[in-house]
Formats: sequence, C-alpha cells, structure tokens
Amino acid sequence: MERLYIRQFLCLCIFKFCVPLPPKNNQMKPLIAPSLLSADFGHLEKDVQMLNRSQADWIHLDIMDGVFVPNISFGMPVIKAVRQLSEKPLDTHLMIVQPERYIHTFKELGCDLLTVHWEACTHLHRTITQIKEEDMLAGVALNPHTPISGLEDIINEVNLVLIMSVNPGFGGQKFIERSLHRISELREMIERNHSEALIEVDGGVNPDNIAAIVKAGADAVVAGNAVFKSDDPELTIQNLKKLS
Ligand code: DX5
Ligand code: ZN
Repeated sequence: MERLYIRQFLCLCIFKFCVPLPPKNNQMKPLIAPSLLSADFGHLEKDVQMLNRSQADWIHLDIMDGVFVPNISFGMPVIKAVRQLSEKPLDTHLMIVQPERYIHTFKELGCDLLTVHWEACTHLHRTITQIKEEDMLAGVALNPHTPISGLEDIINEVNLVLIMSVNPGFGGQKFIERSLHRISELREMIERNHSEALIEVDGGVNPDNIAAIVKAGADAVVAGNAVFKSDDPELTIQNLKKLS
C-alpha cells in the first residue's frame, strides 16, 4: 500500500507539472472524476457549480458519436459552456471514430486530458503524440474485451489508461467484475515498464466497489450515476474519496 502511495504521489507531481491541475489528492485518495453524462442537462450550470464546490478532481466528459458507440451524447457547444463554468480540469473521453480529426478542436475548447479508444485508432502512437503536442495529457481507453497486453508498446507514451468497466455508451450500467483483474494486470505492466501512466476506471463505480477498485490499482475513478442520482451528490463525492 505504501508503494501505491509513493507511485501516486510521483504521478501527480508529473501531472501538476504538465497542466494546471489543482493541488488535490493530499491524502493519496483516488482522483474522483464525476461524469457529466448523468447530470441534469436542464440545470447544467447548477451541477457544474456543485462540482466546483465539491472534492471532485476532474470533470469527466463523455463524447459519443452514435457510430463507435450506440449512443450520441453532447458536443462542442456544451463543452464550451462547461469550460466557462468549470474550475476543474476537463477529463474528456472520446467514444468516437477517427478521434484524430478533432484533437486541435478539443484543445481549443479547453480540454486538459484527452482520451481516445484503442479500438478506434488505427495509428494510436501517432494520435497520442498529436495530443501531447497540443499540450494536453493523453489517455487511451480499453473496452472490456480488449487485451491489456495490447498496451505494452504504448504504455510509456501515455499519461493515462482508462479501463472501461462497462461497455461504453451508457451511464448506469453494472460494473463488470472481471475489470478488477484487468486493473491489476495493467498495474503490473506499468510498474514493470516504469511507466508514469495513471489508471482511471470508468463504469459502474459506486461506494460499494470503490475500495476494491483502488486496491486493484486504480488512481482515478469516474462516477456518473453514483454521484448524480444520489440524494446529496457533493456528499457522495466526499464519501467516494473516504471509502477507498
Ligand atoms: C460510459 C461512460 C461513462 C459513464 C459512467 O460509456 O464512459 O463515463 O458516464 O457512468 P456510471 O458511473 O453511471 O456507470
Ligand atoms: Zn467515460
């Protein structure tokens, strides 16, 4: 556990150096990234202000194109509005085909982290390089069936790996238990390669399973329904940090 804390501390120092991330995670708790997909879009300003007040570290934006995933979420005008309201870094998860076409646009919109899907990138190394050249942190996301071993040759290039613990496309799905083994396998790969990549886990995270997810090796968790469908979202974010 002590090793985990040291590694998290080092990773966060590097993150802080790269982008203006707030000085969070003093207690070496996982970074919490509430997913706006579960927010009330009729009162988006209210929800973003709640996140600004809360202990959330990032705001997770799920961008879906109806092609890579069977759902369409929101796009550029919404991101622009959120950027103007948010005091937190924008953790942007692209569930779209050919994400390389929009890297510069997402930078201009003010995204801090840009994560593309392994399955959507024919030239993943090039796409990751382009994201970093735009001075954003570069992440790669893996669907639940995609072998972790496919990351071996890119693990030293990425800032973050997003382990999908549900099939991407919708909030409110059940956590796939097998993901815990995948997180541990990825942690082992990161340490073996002396990589600085953070592990973020996305899908079905809640107060009942967050401790196991962090124990398996996660540095950051996304939580949509668990936060926004709770009676007190701000308190839930605080509890998610405490429970891990
Ligand atoms: C699913 C998205 C997730 C989702 C998480 O495709 O990538 O970020 O919003 O929502 P919950 O936490 O409700 O599973
Ligand atoms: Zn997501």
